Amino acid sequence: MSTARIELTTKVLLNKPYLVKPQATFLMCPPTLYDVDYVINPWMAGNVHAASRTRAAEQWQRLYEAVNKIANVELVEPEPGSPDMVFTANAGLERNGVVAISSFFHPQRQGEEPHFRRWFRQAGYTLIDIPRATPFEGEGDALFSTDGRCLWVGHGPRTALSSHHALRGIWDIPVVPLHLIDPRFYHLDTCFAPLEGGYVMYFPDAFDHLSLHRIEAFYSPEKRILIREADAVSFACNAINVGRTIILNKISSRLSGQLEQLGFKVIQIDLTEFLKAGGAAKCLVMKLSKHTS
Ligand code: ARG
Repeated sequence: MSTARIELTTKVLLNKPYLVKPQATFLMCPPTLYDVDYVINPWMAGNVHAASRTRAAEQWQRLYEAVNKIANVELVEPEPGSPDMVFTANAGLERNGVVAISSFFHPQRQGEEPHFRRWFRQAGYTLIDIPRATPFEGEGDALFSTDGRCLWVGHGPRTALSSHHALRGIWDIPVVPLHLIDPRFYHLDTCFAPLEGGYVMYFPDAFDHLSLHRIEAFYSPEKRILIREADAVSFACNAINVGRTIILNKISSRLSGQLEQLGFKVIQIDLTEFLKAGGAAKCLVMKLSKHTS
């Protein structure tokens, strides 16, 4: 394309902002009331009240700005008594305007449910409640394959295997259970990330044999990005992926090089204050299929 033509195209696009409007939308919750108040995962142990709200606000702002460049962002107000509300990935799981509202395993997070439910109702979504007897922690434990063909759902520490049946019915989609066996990787999105281009990043030691077999049956060897422990504990798998952009906490240069080789643009943001609660980039957003504001 000639320079003149590129200039013209840019001008046309700028004059018609809807043409360049990003497609993806994410729900985020500002960390104004964020804190480590209790211990419900190994990362929180020794970190009660050890996170700095000022630093958390700066880190979250950087994440917000990076996400906002490649997607729409919707915000839900933080609520007193729900310090983990920043981790909106756990609000529920949404597809085609239908949200399965989480039923948290730990009582410490159950108070978030009515707040998220209200937000989704006001935003015009169809709500489906998952019963208390079958805990389900939303997108933290349930990830659609990027081709939308199946739903990977973790179970063990938080989400119960018995909740998977309901999910299968809601979207009429095959659900592939993945058993999480390492307490440090208590949500699926801490150790598994389907990526554009049919790739997947995962930390093999977080899964039992049958689950590994299921992952390997779906993804051919050249599509698998195996994460080493040092990157796994830096929440490398907890990545936000939109098109060819990946946003995540700091990772090794080896891994960022590997991702860049595959054609990804890697944006690393220090999220240390959120690691103290056991979460990073992907936990701080929830994917939505529609943009309401
Ligand atoms: N402290 C929160 C919890 O233990 C962190 C949640 C992280 N979220 C996630 N999607 N992995 O529930």
